[in-house]
Amino acid sequence: MENKKANILVVDDTLANLELIESMLAEQGYDVRPFPKGKMALKAAFNDPPDLILLDIMMPEMDGYEVCRLLKEDEKLREIPVIFMSALTETIDKVKAFSTGGVDYVTKPVQFEEVFARVKTHLRLRQYQIDIEKKNRELQNTLHELRDAQAKLIQSEKMASLGVLTAGIAHEINNPVNFINASSRALKIKLSPVVTLLEQISREHESQKINDLIHQFKQDRSLKTLINAISELTSNICTGAERSIQIVKGLRTFSRLDEAEKKKAVIHENIDSTLVLLHSQYQNLISIKKEYGDIPDIICYPGKLNQVFLNFLKNAVDAIKSKEKLEQDESISIKTYVFEENNKKYVAVEISDTGTGIPENIMDRLFDPFFTTKDVGKGIGLGLSISLGIIESHGGKIDVKNKPGKGACFTMYIPCESSD
Ligand SMILES: Nc1ncnc2c1ncn2[C@@H]1O[C@H](COP(=O)(O)OP(=O)(O)O)[C@@H](O)[C@H]1O
Ligand SMILES: [Mg+2]
Repeated sequence: MENKKANILVVDDTLANLELIESMLAEQGYDVRPFPKGKMALKAAFNDPPDLILLDIMMPEMDGYEVCRLLKEDEKLREIPVIFMSALTETIDKVKAFSTGGVDYVTKPVQFEEVFARVKTHLRLRQYQIDIEKKNRELQNTLHELRDAQAKLIQSEKMASLGVLTAGIAHEINNPVNFINASSRALKIKLSPVVTLLEQISREHESQKINDLIHQFKQDRSLKTLINAISELTSNICTGAERSIQIVKGLRTFSRLDEAEKKKAVIHENIDSTLVLLHSQYQNLISIKKEYGDIPDIICYPGKLNQVFLNFLKNAVDAIKSKEKLEQDESISIKTYVFEENNKKYVAVEISDTGTGIPENIMDRLFDPFFTTKDVGKGIGLGLSISLGIIESHGGKIDVKNKPGKGACFTMYIPCESSD
């Protein structure tokens, strides 16, 4: 505004004064629009909002207070600074002048220096305000962009961890399905003579002949072996089906990551379904030791917590697998309990491992985004920073330490009572 000509609207019913101010300001390089009446000035302001308004108070038809009030009602004109003018002989109601929205006032006959100084000050203040509003909008935009980028990062970490798991999950599902397949084929073979016998029986009407058929069937084979085989095969099928259901349930629970609403969740079920998904990564190498305590259900974003459990468990598996030599008794311990601090109750979930442990010199950087010690393709370093974000969004916190023996121990504390 300082660079380009500021546009000033002057309103005064005393023509001599109007002309004086107009020429005075025009001489200073301002673009001036003079009006003898409030209504005309308002119309002009609506059509082309000025940068500042000099407004006489005492005017017939519509006085300056009313003009100002109408200006302040309009969204577009509200912020334009209004400087009131009043004759020295009039008693000006200063409170009213300010409360209707004026920023300043001068007395008539006007002093050239005074008007000029006040106009300049208020134009500058208005410019600062415009600049701040612009900066504010820019900041808001940047914040939105940041939030967007963060959401995308979280999504990509989720996809990356799902990617790692997909191969394992396919294998996991394949196992029980093959098991069901093989058992049901064998069962069909075993049942085939039974079905034939039933068909023969269904065609016979004489009891004697039916008895003979059964007798013959019994003599031809060991019924005990047959019964054992049928019972074993059916139970294999049930086990396989049960396992498939568990895996699918685990996948379902896990893929609820984007749920926007908080829900009541049984934390142990969530941990278990995450373990099902990771099973192929640790089976035969690492044993899982559970010490589940008596904890309440909590209101949380269950899908997001699953992502956290997966991150910690996967890190524990990685830390163990990266050891030079694996021991017989490698394990991951999962302990849950209620923790109280400052009268606030938390559900604590402690995940510790017998892995490499964390070198002291990187302890401070663990939760930094993109901090990783893993090879390209093995980790992108977002797991812990995202987990911390998720736990903090629940009003909780995460502790990390190395265990005295060997290995790392992460504990997350999630408030029992939802904070919102
Ligand atoms: N259980 C653990 N034992 C040892 N080091 C760990 C453990 N969990 C995390 N870390 C260290 O923290 C780093 C960051 O972990 P994370 O944010 O999950 O990213 P990423 O797993 O992709 O590397 C890991 O690269 C590793 O050095
Ligand atoms: Mg990780």
